[in-house]
Amino acid sequence: MKIPFLSFDVINKEIEAEVMIEFKKFFDSKRYILGEGLMEFEKKYAAFSGAKYAIGVGNGLDALHLSLVALGIGKGDEVILPSNTFIATVLAVSYAGAIPVFVEPDIHTYNIDPQRIVEAINSKTKAIMPVHLYGQACQMDEICRIANENGLVVIEDNAQAQGANCNGKLTGSFGHLNGTSFYPGKNLGAFGDAGAITTNDSSLAEKLRVLRNYGSERKYYNEYIGYNSRLDELQASLLSVKLGRLIEWNKERNRIAELYGNLLDGSKVVIPRIAESCTSVYHLYVIRHKKRDKLQEYLKSKGIDTLIHYPIPPHLQQAYRSLGVKKGDFPIAERLADEVLSLPLFIGMTEEQVSYVCHHVNQF
Ligand SMILES: Cc1ncc(COP(=O)(O)O)c(C=O)c1O
Repeated sequence: MKIPFLSFDVINKEIEAEVMIEFKKFFDSKRYILGEGLMEFEKKYAAFSGAKYAIGVGNGLDALHLSLVALGIGKGDEVILPSNTFIATVLAVSYAGAIPVFVEPDIHTYNIDPQRIVEAINSKTKAIMPVHLYGQACQMDEICRIANENGLVVIEDNAQAQGANCNGKLTGSFGHLNGTSFYPGKNLGAFGDAGAITTNDSSLAEKLRVLRNYGSERKYYNEYIGYNSRLDELQASLLSVKLGRLIEWNKERNRIAELYGNLLDGSKVVIPRIAESCTSVYHLYVIRHKKRDKLQEYLKSKGIDTLIHYPIPPHLQQAYRSLGVKKGDFPIAERLADEVLSLPLFIGMTEEQVSYVCHHVNQF
């Protein structure tokens, strides 16, 4: 049996007819930038996230970068973020001219450890950027309490967890500003690059609408040195189609994850652990094994595609040599980079496919 890591076959079939109708509407509208499709999607996505406002931008990296800019975070400021995140979280801080300060994750949930955040705060710290990694919400109540006590802002990186919650409150609704990504493989994925910022703050929402459009509210009058980062009108229209199914799709991801959990329980691999107060929307199903590379090779030989999220932690990337951090400085992130393996998980994945993967993981 051949099992891809990700497949759009079922999802695309399910939405094809609606997508074609939306495309025709978009085509006929003759308004291809900042049109009705975007306005509608922003309203729907804000409601989905439990936030008052959503501002569509070009991609997830821009969402995080523009959030930092809108909050006035820049040169000399320190921003706390997890040591095991995807590089985009760190790049956003660098683009803003601020300094990324890595904090280790909890070894069980892989999300940033609130206790360690406290230890990393100093007079230069301005913001905390928790990342809801692999789809599981971070301990947001705890993180927001720490931020409040220390006068810091919170920017959630919600690229991987649209629809997850912590104590019943949705990710993307905790922070002052929250960035998300609609990269095609995300739980809510576009047909190209796309992203959004969510917030409950009307003045920040207004500022971001201006910042994403050359820093201009009125055409040819510029308030800020802005950017061109608008969520593409066509992508927004098509995202609305998918958004209507996201709750159901997230449930299906949970069903697949539960089946994986049952079939891998008691095996030699470490299966995901979800904190009691949080939920996961299983953007990824990540296991751990000491002989990860050999396991990956073995699964490949059985026709099963897997990926590693992520093989090198940000502090060991060549791009970040200038930070002066070295191997051994963030042992949890380094261990995770050596041991994690993401198994196939996609909408339409059958029980038979999950069983086949588990059979071979257990055989290894
Ligand atoms: C955790 C995280 N942050 C940020 C991003 C950046 O999103 P994008 O690829 O849309 O720029 C991604 C996804 O790629 C991500 O997984």
